[in-house]
Amino acid sequence: MKAQIAYSVGAIALTLQFVGCDRDKVSFAADIQPILERSCIECHTSAGEGTTASGFSVSDYASVMKGTALGPVVVPGSSMSSSLYLVIAGKTAPEIRMPPHHEESWAEGRGVPLSAAEIDMVEAWIDQGARDN
Ligand code: HEC
Repeated sequence: MKAQIAYSVGAIALTLQFVGCDRDKVSFAADIQPILERSCIECHTSAGEGTTASGFSVSDYASVMKGTALGPVVVPGSSMSSSLYLVIAGKTAPEIRMPPHHEESWAEGRGVPLSAAEIDMVEAWIDQGARDN
Protein backbone atom coordinates (compact mmCIF):
# COMPACT_ATOMS: atom_id res chain seq x y z
CA MET A 1 0.00 0.00 0.00
CA LYS A 2 2.72 2.45 0.99
CA ALA A 3 4.67 1.61 -2.12
CA GLN A 4 1.53 2.20 -4.19
CA ILE A 5 1.06 5.69 -2.73
CA ALA A 6 4.69 6.57 -3.34
CA TYR A 7 4.23 5.33 -6.89
CA SER A 8 1.22 7.58 -7.53
CA VAL A 9 2.94 10.62 -6.05
CA GLY A 10 5.88 9.96 -8.35
CA ALA A 11 3.60 9.63 -11.36
CA ILE A 12 1.82 12.89 -10.54
CA ALA A 13 5.12 14.71 -10.09
CA LEU A 14 6.32 13.36 -13.42
CA THR A 15 3.13 14.47 -15.17
CA LEU A 16 3.38 17.97 -13.69
CA GLN A 17 6.97 18.19 -14.79
CA PHE A 18 6.07 17.46 -18.38
CA VAL A 19 3.08 19.78 -18.37
CA GLY A 20 5.16 22.54 -16.77
CA CYS A 21 8.01 22.16 -19.19
CA ASP A 22 7.00 22.42 -22.81
CA ARG A 23 10.00 20.79 -24.41
CA ASP A 24 8.78 21.83 -27.86
CA LYS A 25 9.62 25.45 -27.50
CA VAL A 26 12.11 26.37 -24.85
CA SER A 27 12.90 30.07 -24.79
CA PHE A 28 16.28 31.43 -23.74
CA ALA A 29 14.80 34.65 -22.34
CA ALA A 30 11.77 33.11 -20.62
CA ASP A 31 13.11 29.72 -19.47
CA ILE A 32 16.90 29.55 -19.45
CA GLN A 33 17.98 33.02 -18.36
CA PRO A 34 15.92 32.92 -15.12
CA ILE A 35 17.60 29.60 -14.18
CA LEU A 36 21.06 31.05 -14.84
CA GLU A 37 20.20 34.21 -12.91
CA ARG A 38 18.94 32.27 -9.93
CA SER A 39 21.67 29.65 -9.69
CA CYS A 40 24.78 30.78 -11.55
CA ILE A 41 25.09 34.54 -11.88
CA GLU A 42 26.35 35.14 -8.33
CA CYS A 43 29.63 33.47 -9.43
CA HIS A 44 29.48 33.76 -13.22
CA THR A 45 29.55 37.46 -13.96
CA SER A 46 32.38 40.00 -14.30
CA ALA A 47 34.29 39.66 -10.98
CA GLY A 48 32.56 36.49 -9.74
CA GLU A 49 34.51 33.46 -8.56
CA GLY A 50 33.41 31.29 -11.51
CA THR A 51 34.12 33.90 -14.19
CA THR A 52 37.51 34.73 -12.69
CA ALA A 53 38.49 31.05 -12.62
CA SER A 54 37.10 29.90 -15.98
CA GLY A 55 36.23 32.99 -18.02
CA PHE A 56 32.61 31.79 -18.29
CA SER A 57 29.93 34.43 -17.74
CA VAL A 58 26.16 33.97 -17.90
CA SER A 59 25.32 37.68 -18.02
CA ASP A 60 23.69 37.43 -21.46
CA TYR A 61 23.16 35.12 -24.46
CA ALA A 62 26.40 36.19 -26.16
CA SER A 63 28.53 35.38 -23.10
CA VAL A 64 26.82 32.03 -22.59
CA MET A 65 27.61 31.10 -26.21
CA LYS A 66 31.18 32.42 -25.96
CA GLY A 67 31.92 29.90 -23.21
CA THR A 68 35.09 29.73 -21.10
CA ALA A 69 38.56 31.08 -21.84
CA LEU A 70 39.18 27.70 -23.53
CA GLY A 71 36.15 27.77 -25.81
CA PRO A 72 32.42 27.11 -26.11
CA VAL A 73 30.46 25.15 -23.49
CA VAL A 74 27.33 24.93 -25.65
CA VAL A 75 27.22 22.89 -28.87
CA PRO A 76 23.86 23.77 -30.47
CA GLY A 77 21.86 20.59 -31.11
CA SER A 78 23.93 18.34 -28.83
CA SER A 79 23.49 18.57 -25.07
CA MET A 80 25.72 15.53 -24.63
CA SER A 81 28.62 17.45 -26.23
CA SER A 82 27.93 20.60 -24.21
CA SER A 83 29.87 21.00 -20.98
CA LEU A 84 27.22 23.49 -19.80
CA TYR A 85 24.76 20.59 -19.69
CA LEU A 86 27.23 17.98 -18.44
CA VAL A 87 28.31 20.05 -15.41
CA ILE A 88 24.73 20.75 -14.26
CA ALA A 89 23.44 17.23 -14.93
CA GLY A 90 26.12 15.64 -12.75
CA LYS A 91 27.70 13.83 -15.68
CA THR A 92 31.21 15.04 -14.81
CA ALA A 93 33.54 14.48 -11.86
CA PRO A 94 32.00 15.84 -8.64
CA GLU A 95 34.76 18.48 -8.38
CA ILE A 96 33.41 20.38 -11.38
CA ARG A 97 29.64 19.93 -10.95
CA MET A 98 27.71 23.20 -11.14
CA PRO A 99 26.60 24.92 -9.13
CA PRO A 100 29.24 23.72 -6.70
CA HIS A 101 27.52 22.14 -3.73
CA HIS A 102 29.79 19.27 -2.75
CA GLU A 103 32.47 19.34 -0.12
CA GLU A 104 34.86 17.96 -2.73
CA SER A 105 34.16 20.70 -5.25
CA TRP A 106 37.06 22.97 -6.24
CA ALA A 107 35.04 26.16 -6.07
CA GLU A 108 35.00 28.05 -2.77
CA GLY A 109 31.34 29.06 -2.77
CA ARG A 110 28.33 26.75 -2.61
CA GLY A 111 25.05 26.79 -4.49
CA VAL A 112 21.81 24.81 -4.56
CA PRO A 113 21.72 22.05 -7.23
CA LEU A 114 19.28 22.58 -10.10
CA SER A 115 16.02 20.62 -10.04
CA ALA A 116 15.45 17.78 -12.51
CA ALA A 117 12.95 19.98 -14.38
CA GLU A 118 15.51 22.80 -14.72
CA ILE A 119 18.18 20.39 -15.96
CA ASP A 120 15.69 18.98 -18.51
CA MET A 121 14.89 22.50 -19.67
CA VAL A 122 18.55 23.31 -20.35
CA GLU A 123 18.97 19.98 -22.13
CA ALA A 124 15.95 20.67 -24.35
CA TRP A 125 17.10 24.23 -25.10
CA ILE A 126 20.51 23.00 -26.31
CA ASP A 127 19.02 20.09 -28.29
CA GLN A 128 16.60 22.51 -29.98
CA GLY A 129 19.54 24.53 -31.29
CA ALA A 130 20.42 26.80 -28.31
CA ARG A 131 18.62 29.71 -29.94
CA ASP A 132 18.48 33.32 -28.71
CA ASN A 133 14.68 33.21 -28.58
C1 HEC B 1 29.65 29.31 -5.92
C2 HEC B 1 30.14 29.77 -7.19
C3 HEC B 1 29.62 29.14 -8.45
C4 HEC B 1 28.31 28.96 -8.83
C5 HEC B 1 27.03 29.30 -8.05
C6 HEC B 1 28.34 28.38 -10.16
N1 HEC B 1 29.64 28.22 -10.57
FE1 HEC B 1 30.28 27.46 -12.38
N2 HEC B 1 32.22 27.68 -11.81
C7 HEC B 1 32.65 28.16 -10.59
C8 HEC B 1 34.11 28.07 -10.54
C9 HEC B 1 34.97 28.53 -9.37
C10 HEC B 1 34.53 27.52 -11.77
C11 HEC B 1 35.94 27.19 -12.24
C12 HEC B 1 36.50 25.96 -11.57
C13 HEC B 1 35.75 24.71 -11.87
O1 HEC B 1 35.64 24.36 -13.08
O2 HEC B 1 35.28 24.05 -10.91
C14 HEC B 1 33.32 27.28 -12.55
C15 HEC B 1 33.31 26.74 -13.83
C16 HEC B 1 32.18 26.58 -14.61
C17 HEC B 1 32.17 26.11 -15.98
C18 HEC B 1 33.38 25.74 -16.80
C19 HEC B 1 33.70 24.28 -16.65
C20 HEC B 1 34.84 23.95 -17.57
O3 HEC B 1 34.56 23.36 -18.63
O4 HEC B 1 35.97 24.30 -17.24
C21 HEC B 1 30.87 26.07 -16.40
C22 HEC B 1 30.35 25.65 -17.78
C23 HEC B 1 30.07 26.50 -15.28
N3 HEC B 1 30.88 26.80 -14.21
C24 HEC B 1 28.70 26.59 -15.30
C25 HEC B 1 27.91 26.96 -14.22
C26 HEC B 1 26.47 26.98 -14.26
C27 HEC B 1 25.62 26.64 -15.48
C28 HEC B 1 26.04 27.37 -13.02
C29 HEC B 1 24.62 27.49 -12.52
C30 HEC B 1 23.77 26.35 -12.69
C31 HEC B 1 27.22 27.61 -12.20
N4 HEC B 1 28.34 27.34 -12.97
C32 HEC B 1 27.21 28.05 -10.89
C33 HEC B 1 31.86 28.68 -9.58
C34 HEC B 1 30.46 28.67 -9.56
